Amino acid sequence: MNPEKTNTFRHAEMFGGRTHRAMPTSASNGGEIIFRPFDAANSGVRPPFSVRKLRHPLFSWFGLRPIIAQHTRAEHDALLRWVCDRRTVVEIGVAEGASACALREAMSPEGILYLIDPFHLSRVPLINTLRRAAHAAVAQFGACRVVWIEQFSQAAVGNWREPIDLLFIDGDHEESAVRKDWDDWSRFVVPGGVVLFHDARVFENGWPDLTYGPVRVVNRLFRDGEAIEWRIVEEADSLIVVERKEG
Ligand SMILES: C[S@@+](CC[C@H](N)C(=O)[O-])C[C@H]1O[C@@H](n2cnc3c(N)ncnc32)[C@H](O)[C@@H]1O
Repeated sequence: MNPEKTNTFRHAEMFGGRTHRAMPTSASNGGEIIFRPFDAANSGVRPPFSVRKLRHPLFSWFGLRPIIAQHTRAEHDALLRWVCDRRTVVEIGVAEGASACALREAMSPEGILYLIDPFHLSRVPLINTLRRAAHAAVAQFGACRVVWIEQFSQAAVGNWREPIDLLFIDGDHEESAVRKDWDDWSRFVVPGGVVLFHDARVFENGWPDLTYGPVRVVNRLFRDGEAIEWRIVEEADSLIVVERKEG
């Protein structure tokens, strides 16, 4: 699927302190997303009111501001392209749910989206606004079944048996944790299936540097030739997509 040619989702992009609707309105459920860069320190643009004052996930949960993505528009478009028509999709690290929205939007409606995040950082665990914001966000996009796994990925893999078509690694960013997610989960990815890593590439005006855990893991596995069954198929801002070779 080329998202530029579809009319099935709606998202917003921020320029010069304004939210600019870059895509047509979704035929589905009308969610709206603000992409990076929204940080004045990095981008030189003034963040919109919703980002400056309504940053808490409570405001997203109540629908008082758009969903704030931790990724760029180019990364979002790459997620949409690579998940298109895939049926068993796993995301490690959901947060407010912006990337999960992209996955659910474009994957097969007959598929299952597994979302793994312990949502452990809430100061009021009983209310857990981040988890509620994520559930509310994901409900606005796509149609497939969603299975929420509220565990650390290292624990969740103990019960995992399914072949995976697309795996998105965006949980704990410590180098050892990223490497463990790769070692634990990549063996379930089918030939022709893909793994996406976020914050895994140094790019112009971007935030990752060579010391970032995902950057180090990706460089060792795919640029230094450790993972010979895999090849890099796309690089978009901080996102790296690798495909398991067939045969
Ligand atoms: C960078 S955010 C994810 C952003 C999200 N993918 C997006 O683009 O909107 C990282 C998330 O990973 C979660 N997390 C941290 N360690 C984890 C682990 N071991 N397994 C699963 N999730 C984890 C955190 O709770 C946090 O919500």
